[in-house]
Amino acid sequence: MKVFIAGASGGIGGYLADRLSACHEVFGSYRSRAPVADIQYQMDKVDIGSGEEVARWISMNACEDDDLALIYCVGVNYNCMMHKAESDKWEEVVDANLFGVQRVLRQIIPLMRKRRFGRIILFSSVVPQMGVMGTSAYAASKSALWGLSKAVAKENASFGITINTLNLGYFDIGMIEDVPDNVLEKIIEEIPMKMLGDPGNIFNAVDFLLKSDYVTGSCVGINGGLV
Ligand SMILES: NC(=O)c1ccc[n+]([C@@H]2O[C@H](COP(=O)([O-])OP(=O)(O)OC[C@H]3O[C@@H](n4cnc5c(N)ncnc54)[C@H](OP(=O)(O)O)[C@@H]3O)[C@@H](O)[C@H]2O)c1
Repeated sequence: MKVFIAGASGGIGGYLADRLSACHEVFGSYRSRAPVADIQYQMDKVDIGSGEEVARWISMNACEDDDLALIYCVGVNYNCMMHKAESDKWEEVVDANLFGVQRVLRQIIPLMRKRRFGRIILFSSVVPQMGVMGTSAYAASKSALWGLSKAVAKENASFGITINTLNLGYFDIGMIEDVPDNVLEKIIEEIPMKMLGDPGNIFNAVDFLLKSDYVTGSCVGINGGLV
């Protein structure tokens, strides 16, 4: 299978790209963090805000004869109270987390439909489930993915295409590294399992969804019992 990972320069995307490249052909994208040496997969620079760059990334590497998967790991947060938020920063978050999904799906779904096979995995979060101060843009964009995936699941079920969303809790990788230690301690205290998640749990869910042909439109929570 050809597995496209948008945001493979990030913590989770990079981890999945490393592990999935052992048994799949992986095509990752990055924006600002250049690929490190010794990786076993292809990396292309793609600004997810540009429909042209996204179209080039997909058309350069995929065709209708390929079994294709998309794992969308792009994600940004903007920590600010709603009434104080700057519009351009708020919109930047929604653009990367939600509109970027639309830009990739409109390129890759037509190829999947011709092949009558496809796997799509999106990343949402416990944040919109819990309600967390200062995360209005992030929560709005991440909860939108639930409705989007339900609709896309129904549109494409008869074409052998599945789409599912992983609702992640707090993991010991990626964007969590920006969280100050004192905040992190409080987060861990709230998690019933009293620890951050091991990314191996994300890999297990992704591997299951890539292999399943009867799971679609689902949201899978991986959160240590948080919600
Ligand atoms: N880590 C967690 O505990 C956690 C919890 C809940 C949900 N999630 C979700 O899981 C996904 C992966 O998170 P992560 O922790 O791996 O985040 P991360 O390490 O911050 O990585 C984010 C990725 O998004 C890319 N990106 C951001 N804006 C972009 C743009 N405009 N165009 C192209 N690429 C862009 C970054 O590229 P560059 O670095 O190259 O700029 C990077 O590859 C995200 O959707 C996140 O919301 C993570």
